[in-house]
Amino acid sequence: MSYVITIDGPAGAGKSSVAKDTARKLGIKYLDTGAIYRAIALILNASEVKPLDDDIMREALGKISIVLKGKAVLVNGFDVTGEIRTPEADELASVYSAVPAVREALLGLQKEQEKHGSIVAEGRDVGSVVFPDAKVKFFLTASPEARAERRYNERISKGKTADYDEILRAITERDKNDSSRKTAPLKIPEGAIYLDTSDMTEEEAVNFILNEVKNKVKEAIINETE
Ligand code: DC
Repeated sequence: MSYVITIDGPAGAGKSSVAKDTARKLGIKYLDTGAIYRAIALILNASEVKPLDDDIMREALGKISIVLKGKAVLVNGFDVTGEIRTPEADELASVYSAVPAVREALLGLQKEQEKHGSIVAEGRDVGSVVFPDAKVKFFLTASPEARAERRYNERISKGKTADYDEILRAITERDKNDSSRKTAPLKIPEGAIYLDTSDMTEEEAVNFILNEVKNKVKEAIINETE
């Protein structure tokens, strides 16, 4: 039985590491939808296409091909995986992902990942729009301060420079953009399990998720055989 698990939530809630670890422990694929939005935002910005829902945008989108190859994201054949994790890409992805034409263009690519077997999909609307019929849905969040602290520690541990106040400001700004946009705003999907990870370790969050998944998958198997 193949199934989809969705994990939505705001920036810095620990979704990526939790989703990756959950997928690894379940032995299934991890789908990072944010990486796709980051990649398309970078190419649109580099091509000087304004973040507007207009014909210029549609024409540009028609010429972009995005391919997921294992952990890599290829844009028009070029591997951009190394370029999508910068503060600039954070901001650009937040702005371009609010454009309905961009979201429409990326919907098919995300949906088709389900065809290759079970997945843990992570994003902002994976439980509400992309995989509304997912077997188990989660909404992971944490206080803005806890999220800013995590991003700060992440950057420092990678030997990069970081400014906590600036990170907190950017997170608050992104929350506002992601939650207030008209198309597919960040919201708790119907039927999602809400998890506040402010005072949780990554391991605790993963264990909580694995437990819920096991129960739901068991339930589904029992229902199927009844
Ligand atoms: O999860 P992330 O930080 O890599 O996402 C980057 C941006 O992409 C984020 O600002 C919101 C957007 N995004 C989205 O709108 N929908 C998704 N399913 C995933 C990401």
